[in-house]
Amino acid sequence: MKIAVLPGDGIGTEIVAEAIKVLNTLDLKFEMETALVGGAAYEAYGHPLPEATLKLAKEADAVLFGAVGDWKFDQLDRHLRPEQAILGLRKNLGLFANFRPAICYPQLVGASSLKPELIAGLDILIIRELTGDIYFGQPRGRRVASDGNFPGTEEAFDTMRYAHPEIERIAHVAFQAARKRAKRVTSVDKANVLETSQFWRDIVIEVSQQYTDVTLDHMYVDNAAMQLVRAPKKFDVVVTGNLFGDILSDEASMLTGSIGMLPSASLNATNQGLYEPSHGSAPDIAGKGIANPLATILSAAMMLRFSLKQEVAAERIEVAVKTVLTQGYRTADIFSEGTHQVGTVAMGDAVVAVLKAQS
Ligand code: IPM
Ligand code: MG
Repeated sequence: MKIAVLPGDGIGTEIVAEAIKVLNTLDLKFEMETALVGGAAYEAYGHPLPEATLKLAKEADAVLFGAVGDWKFDQLDRHLRPEQAILGLRKNLGLFANFRPAICYPQLVGASSLKPELIAGLDILIIRELTGDIYFGQPRGRRVASDGNFPGTEEAFDTMRYAHPEIERIAHVAFQAARKRAKRVTSVDKANVLETSQFWRDIVIEVSQQYTDVTLDHMYVDNAAMQLVRAPKKFDVVVTGNLFGDILSDEASMLTGSIGMLPSASLNATNQGLYEPSHGSAPDIAGKGIANPLATILSAAMMLRFSLKQEVAAERIEVAVKTVLTQGYRTADIFSEGTHQVGTVAMGDAVVAVLKAQS
């Protein structure tokens, strides 16, 4: 079980260290190798995704990823920005299927900005297509002479595009995931306006014929954004394109009260995967030892389940995380009156202690 460890920037190093501590508590043998990525790699090697880092990731069974980005890199050319590292990894490893669960832990219902009755028991799975759409569309251009509404001025453009097989394979992923859950898929698009979306919808319908046990409905993205805060529990699996999925998954994560709790997995066709928390590098709190490591620890559990086929170990970690919440441990982002506030390392220690007690 070869794991490429890419902590990245900001709080990335702090939270990944806790996940590794947890993994090392299990009675399993891992081969782990760490490399720089993102802004840290840019500063050391002049590129956010150096060849050696990419090679390490490609040769591993799984990548455990922290987070990338910092305001200090905002002025760099786009291809040198830290974010390009994660996009490059997704593209180069073919990680087209992004799983972003939004689960509301009963211990944390009070942490959401929505009323408890709206989110108690919430369990949504957003499946975001990750290697197509406007993120990777060509042509793309900037500051070209406008031939649109303002001739003689400049304009910039990105192109939204999807190929038939790209939509087909993500639709299969969504239907198969729904089969293991409540058997409902909501496909989100903007088919009332965009050709790409009508194409998406047609293909999802076509694929759905192979999954007659799963209920499919369609929603325009603006309505989906609204329904997510109006009645989020109506959703089971949401499948959508790269851009809409980026936006809706952030929205869904906040329903649960804390983005600091949510893991994610990005898989390719052979179940090689990249696992990262749903949150970013949080440069504002980096180095303070207060970041919540649970999303990364839960990402390590997803890694055990999907890429390393260690279901029992994955469940052990998930149970341990629930147990520390029940015990009252909270990092600052999920703290409420009457609970016990701890820092990053102490939260990792608490999970380790539960795991040791389990065995
Ligand atoms: C995410 C992030 C990335 C994305 C950025 C960092 C490129 O927002 O993983 O959701 O837009 O996909
Ligand atoms: Mg995002």
